[in-house]
Amino acid sequence: MKKITVNASTEYDILIGKGLLSDAGKLCADTLGIHSVAIVSDDTVDALYSEALEKSLRDAGYSPIKFVIPHGEASKSMKSLEGLLGFLAENHMTRSDFLIALGGGVVGDLTGFAAAVYLRGIRFVQIPTTLLAAVDSSVGGKTAVNIPAGKNLVGAFHQPSLVICDCLTLDTLPENIFADGCAEVIKYGIINDKRLFEKLKSPIKPQIEDIIANCVSNKRDIVNADEFDNGIRRLLNLGHTVGHAVEICSNFGISHGSAVAIGTCIVARASARLGICEESLPCEAEKMFKDYSHPTTCKFSAEELTTVALGDKKRMGQTISFVLPYAIGDCRICDMNVETIKDFIQKGL
Ligand SMILES: NC(=O)c1ccc[n+]([C@@H]2O[C@H](COP(=O)([O-])OP(=O)(O)OC[C@H]3O[C@@H](n4cnc5c(N)ncnc54)[C@H](O)[C@@H]3O)[C@@H](O)[C@H]2O)c1
Ligand SMILES: [Zn+2]
Repeated sequence: MKKITVNASTEYDILIGKGLLSDAGKLCADTLGIHSVAIVSDDTVDALYSEALEKSLRDAGYSPIKFVIPHGEASKSMKSLEGLLGFLAENHMTRSDFLIALGGGVVGDLTGFAAAVYLRGIRFVQIPTTLLAAVDSSVGGKTAVNIPAGKNLVGAFHQPSLVICDCLTLDTLPENIFADGCAEVIKYGIINDKRLFEKLKSPIKPQIEDIIANCVSNKRDIVNADEFDNGIRRLLNLGHTVGHAVEICSNFGISHGSAVAIGTCIVARASARLGICEESLPCEAEKMFKDYSHPTTCKFSAEELTTVALGDKKRMGQTISFVLPYAIGDCRICDMNVETIKDFIQKGL
């Protein structure tokens, strides 16, 4: 088992290992004590992993209750939030009690936000079961739900008390969902970890525990330095400003991971053309994303992508911050004027 400690506004451990789900009860008891606990999961993950989690919690002295949402992004809604908050109230959950998010980023973000607002804030534990959740959404305390006006528009910073990542749960992920997580893993390599990028040239599954730990410690360092996303945490947005535009232009037909791959490659090609990085960098990035089954180009025009990107929530007045690759493992934040963005994207198409 690997242990990585985050020192943000609160300190907590991220535990990564094979088979940790069956120890989850004891791990929770050691960190949070024995209180009432509510598990939140989606129907797919519930069918696969709730039983093992519930048994482990009961063995440790808990009497868990459970709230299950339908799987999929549509469940990250105000309606689910209201349902969950009502469930917690009906079951008389108090401030000393805690929630467990068992699932991917949808469950994690919803549960985290419910924990942030229920009784003005109770504790929660993340048990990520997708690669994306393991390397990204379960760490760092960003929680949110979607509203019709946009994704993640209603949320809070609320750090978990513990993250338990059982790598064995990733074995049941459909290949496309696993591949989406791989795009985020590649992102960490390009941002600031050339060694991680090199490791990804060998098959990922045999080294998954090590790779997740690499990503999590990268994210930990960034969150420790900038918990509230005003500075270097924006590095994690590599490929995401253009990527979100690609997702929206495709009406979400292109998955998040593939959109990040396309967005990263557009930014990399534009950076190479501007002499910011070597010509070889976009080729290296493209090869890596293709090896993990992602596209690196899209059919949308610079005009279309720019129009959508200008509505991005990362916009600050007349600038949008872009993350530019100077080399593999060396990315920097550049605040770009909205007038220059179309030209920049055009160079990357
Ligand atoms: N909070 C953050 O910092 C942050 C960062 C990145 C993404 N996110 C959010 O994360 C969400 C995406 O997360 P995701 O990609 O994990 O999606 P998800 O939670 O929808 O999971 C994807 C699918 O995989 C299924 N699944 C999950 N674990 C499984 C398993 N072990 N075996 C089989 N099937 C399994 C789920 O039922 C679901 O259908 C988005 O809403 C995004 O906004 C948040
Ligand atoms: Zn992402």
